[in-house]
Amino acid sequence: MILQLFKKRISKPVISDFSILGTDMHSHLVPGVDDGADTVETSLTMIKGLMELGYKKIITTPHIRPDYFPNTRETIMTGFEKLKKAVASAGLEIELECAAEYFVDFEFKEKIEKEKLLTFSGNHLLMEISTFSPPPNLYDSIFQMRIKGYQPIIAHPERYGYYKVDEFSKMKDFGCMLQVNTMSLTGHYGKPTKELALKLLKADLVDLLGTDMHHPGHLEVLQKATKDGSVMNLIAGRKFKNATF
Ligand SMILES: [Fe+2]
Repeated sequence: MILQLFKKRISKPVISDFSILGTDMHSHLVPGVDDGADTVETSLTMIKGLMELGYKKIITTPHIRPDYFPNTRETIMTGFEKLKKAVASAGLEIELECAAEYFVDFEFKEKIEKEKLLTFSGNHLLMEISTFSPPPNLYDSIFQMRIKGYQPIIAHPERYGYYKVDEFSKMKDFGCMLQVNTMSLTGHYGKPTKELALKLLKADLVDLLGTDMHHPGHLEVLQKATKDGSVMNLIAGRKFKNATF
C-alpha cells in the first residue's frame, strides 16, 4: 500500500503542458505537400492543439525527399503563405515559421552545393536519415553543411536504432544538434525507440524536443502525455534549447 502510494506520488507530472519548451521546431503542418496535414482545416486543428499544449512558436518543417516528397522551396513556401493567411483569418495568435526536413540521400550533398536550403532561425537545418540502415554519406554531408555555414540538426536520432549512443556522440562532435521526438518518450514508436531516447537523454546528448506532428492523432498522444509524470518530469528536469528559437 505504502509502495503504491509512493509510486503514485512520483509519477505525478510536475508540469501540465509543454510551455516550458516554448517553441516546437519539427512538424508537418503545411497542407497537401507531404504526409502531414491534408487540408487547411486539419492544419488549423493541429495548430490550435499545439497552442493549447502551451507552445508559443511553431516552426513547421515539411519533408523534402526526392523519392517520396519532391518538394522545392517554392512548393513549400506557397503552401505556407496560404496557411499563414488561414491562421490569421481564424484569429489564432501564434508565431509561425517554415523550414523543411531534408532526407539525406545521394542527391543531398549536391543540394547543399547548389541550392539555398530552407532553414530556420538563421542557419538551422533539420535533417533525417533512413530508419532502416545507416546512410553511407552522412559525415560527408555534415561536413559539407558545416562548410556552407549550416547548423545541422539530426531529427529523431532515437528512431535510427542501428546506431549506438556513441555514434550520436560522434555526430555532436562533428557539430550536429540532436532533436528527439516528444512522442518517443511515451513509447508511441515502440519500446526500442523509447529506450534509445532515454539513453540519449541520460547521456545528456539531446538539444531539442520536437513534436514531429503529422496528424491530429499525434495531438491526442501529446495530450495524454501531459497527464503522465514519467514523460513530463523528464522534460521538466532538463534544459532544452527550444526556447532559443
Ligand atoms: Fe518529421
